[in-house]
Amino acid sequence: MALNDCRILDLPRINDRRGNLTFIEGGTHIPFDIARTYYLYDVPGGAERGGHGHKALSQLIVAISGSFDVHLDDGAEKRSFHMNRSYYGLYVTPMIWREIDNFSSGSVCLVLASDHYDETDYYRNYDTFKEAAKRYWGHQ
Ligand code: TYD
Repeated sequence: MALNDCRILDLPRINDRRGNLTFIEGGTHIPFDIARTYYLYDVPGGAERGGHGHKALSQLIVAISGSFDVHLDDGAEKRSFHMNRSYYGLYVTPMIWREIDNFSSGSVCLVLASDHYDETDYYRNYDTFKEAAKRYWGHQ
């Protein structure tokens, strides 16, 4: 089942009186090698990000600071995650539509990605995505 593959991964944590540390190794703590990282910051209140799907890209989404909500959709089912810990990563497989909203003030959304930026890997139209997802995931 498509959405079940998307899940919260518990990242390694080194707790220390001087401050905590979390690390992520591609292929070890997450199921892909990291080719790119980007982050969303200075997001104004009420803004929404995402609103697209990827054909082949895998991603890990981390609330490095603050909190936000991630809404995932495999074209048949939807699931939402409230991200508010810097040691939890949300693993998102290819062929999942995602929207991110409810950013708290000063929040930072870190994204680790399995490949370089490639606009041809995007579905930016929901109906086109839904049709493709139906075939990909074998929805009725
Ligand atoms: P987009 O992926 O739509 O942002 P989000 O999913 O966070 O809402 O990207 C927004 C713009 O930034 C778009 O014009 C493409 C560009 N961009 C890059 O050039 N490189 C990147 O790695 C990313 C993620 C986006």
